[in-house]
Amino acid sequence: MSSKISLSRYLVEQQRSKGHIPADLRLLLEVVARACKSISHAVNKGALGGVLGSAESENVQGEVQKKLDIIANEVLLEANEWGGHLAAMASEEMDSIYLVPNRYPQGEYLLLFDPLDGSSNIDVNVSIGTIFSVLKKPEGTSQDGTPSAPGVTEQDFLQPGKQQVAAGYCVYGPQTTLVLTVGDGVAMFTLDREQGSFVLTQENVQVPADTQEFAINMSNMRHWADPVRKYIDECLQGKEGPRGKDFNMRWIASMVADVHRILTRGGVFLYPWDKREPHKAGKLRLLYEANPMSWLIEQAGGASTNGHTRILDLQPGQLHERVSVVLGSRNEVERITQYHAEI
Ligand code: AHG
Ligand code: MN
Ligand code: MN
Repeated sequence: MSSKISLSRYLVEQQRSKGHIPADLRLLLEVVARACKSISHAVNKGALGGVLGSAESENVQGEVQKKLDIIANEVLLEANEWGGHLAAMASEEMDSIYLVPNRYPQGEYLLLFDPLDGSSNIDVNVSIGTIFSVLKKPEGTSQDGTPSAPGVTEQDFLQPGKQQVAAGYCVYGPQTTLVLTVGDGVAMFTLDREQGSFVLTQENVQVPADTQEFAINMSNMRHWADPVRKYIDECLQGKEGPRGKDFNMRWIASMVADVHRILTRGGVFLYPWDKREPHKAGKLRLLYEANPMSWLIEQAGGASTNGHTRILDLQPGQLHERVSVVLGSRNEVERITQYHAEI
């Protein structure tokens, strides 16, 4: 008998012995993982599968969609709509929420996703991924105190990240790796292509509290606010500067891949507010990028903030809301938070 632990077995154990997840959440996560497997196959085919290049359309945020953005979005919708565990879905690539069609039973969960993260890396064969977050549909009451009518509205999705019941991502790189939390630490699963299943390859993932590696798009330096400028400037001064140590820099431009590196060996990731579009809080999206990644990082002992407030405490105001993000090794995130309080 093989001693390998599959994702299915891990989830059954989370349900049965640890009591962390109910059966329908387990099924939901199995379906998301199956969808990621299918996206992974499409990614691997590349030019042979005709999946590269632009779709020549724009999403609600005015970004040009790649063919794979649309393919991944459709794979996730189709895989998840019929199982009976979901009430509705929301995606970076869709203007508004997607209700489970009437012909299928409706469940109590809401699924949010960035179907394809790192779109600018698709055509150049650099790691990309899928990010997902699961919330429970709120059990609302009407103004007269009676339970509200069944059905889902956009408002139901506007819950702070600390209310997530599961979050994760799948990175399509040299290996396809699914990383998951259901509130019991972070576990990593590698896709075994011969078996066709995700196999547990690391449990209890921990982000070291200290690091000498930062990730930021340096080309935006002239647009940054002072606290970010000060932090990076001190890192760049290395051994001779106030930090007294040299720093290394990495920027993959796929949040999944940058976060995966940080979960693996530590580091700090910043996509801060900047002056290019001052009315926007940041580039990254709160509900389907920052929240799931922040919960994973916190579950691994790291920290995540917008510079002032813990990301998981932020009350979203709208579905496609953006946010400034600083996450990773705890002591660096605390230092950056302190600079924001001081300057
Ligand atoms: P997406 O491909 O889903 O739009 O997300 C891309 C995001 C994120 O993954 C990455 O960290 C960042 O955009 C890169 O932005 P720059 O190209 O501005 O560096
Ligand atoms: Mn993204
Ligand atoms: Mn995307």
